[in-house]
Amino acid sequence: MKKILVTGGLGYIGSHTVVELQNSGFEVIIIDNLSNSSLNVLEGITSITKKPPIFERLDLRIKADVIDFFHRHEQIAGVIHFAASKAVGESVEQPLHYYENNISTLIYLLQECKAHGIHNVIFSSSCTVYGEPDRLPITEEAPVKKATSPYGNTKQISEEIIEDTCEVDPQLKCIALRYFNPIGAHHSAMIGELPVGVPQNLVPFITQTAAGVRKELSVFGNDYETSDGSCIRDYIHVVDLAKAHVVALERLLQNNNTSNFEIFNVGTGKGTSVLEVIKAFETVTGTKLPYKVVERRPGDVVSVYADTTKANEILGWKAERSMEDALSSAWKWEQHIRNI
Ligand code: UD1
Repeated sequence: MKKILVTGGLGYIGSHTVVELQNSGFEVIIIDNLSNSSLNVLEGITSITKKPPIFERLDLRIKADVIDFFHRHEQIAGVIHFAASKAVGESVEQPLHYYENNISTLIYLLQECKAHGIHNVIFSSSCTVYGEPDRLPITEEAPVKKATSPYGNTKQISEEIIEDTCEVDPQLKCIALRYFNPIGAHHSAMIGELPVGVPQNLVPFITQTAAGVRKELSVFGNDYETSDGSCIRDYIHVVDLAKAHVVALERLLQNNNTSNFEIFNVGTGKGTSVLEVIKAFETVTGTKLPYKVVERRPGDVVSVYADTTKANEILGWKAERSMEDALSSAWKWEQHIRNI
């Protein structure tokens, strides 16, 4: 059984990926500092897979602890690196926190991978690196635009750090997955997204509004140049996204990669507007969602969706779950955590 280290493995995407890794026969070690996650997630994972993953509470910013961790855990075959801060607005207010938490941790991790002969690394990147795209759908060849937030910048810098490191270390193999907008939850409702405080992202805000935790959803603008005036995103079911990590990891473990730094878009290839998401949620749940249209949110791009040809053809991976599946699983999860 190959041992895989998952950093940030108790987070939203991390926890779903741990489930898929365990279901594919990998042994998983999670490290997480619990800054934006909870130990209950470990129980959620275990209730699905019936196999408790190994867990260590560890803060990757503390270099001595990272060094010590790798001394204690031999024979790690690969690393999937999720641990990072991800709130765009917060990153504008606390840039140094974002640069430290997202960049120094990657450096320490890559240094220890080198020291311990760990050659396979999957990195969580984001479609945010494309900024406002010139052409849709977005291919991996699209230029990386100047980031509009420190968060976005950390993803660009991280990709550069990985690329530069791969350049001088031919044994190291890395894949950066550029996620579009992950939504939904595991169908069991045992794990899902757990936003701290007021959710910034669309779907958790919708489900909390439907649960009565929030009075109404604010739609940020309906005067964009899109079919219905609201912004367009590529919403991907988190379980599909999790599966992409397993496929990417297997590609590296089997040495099927064609270069030692590869980048893949991970989305559905389909753009959906905010108002369409609301309509789909109302249809799936049979309830009316209270919402009002407000000002545009500063920094929002108008329209982003992926060209997924590269992931489909080269990784042999394709998003399979529908928007309806994603929204009903997100709603089931919200009901589960609210006991409704
Ligand atoms: C952004 C980043 C993404 C990052 C994520 C983390 C881009 C293209 N994407 O996603 O890389 O990982 O933040 O938080 O930069 N909306 C409302 N009302 C709400 C919330 C959202 O109308 O209460 C709208 C937004 O205006 C947007 C859409 O819903 O059009 C999705 O917003 P959100 O879920 O916050 O994700 P992004 O901003 O696309």
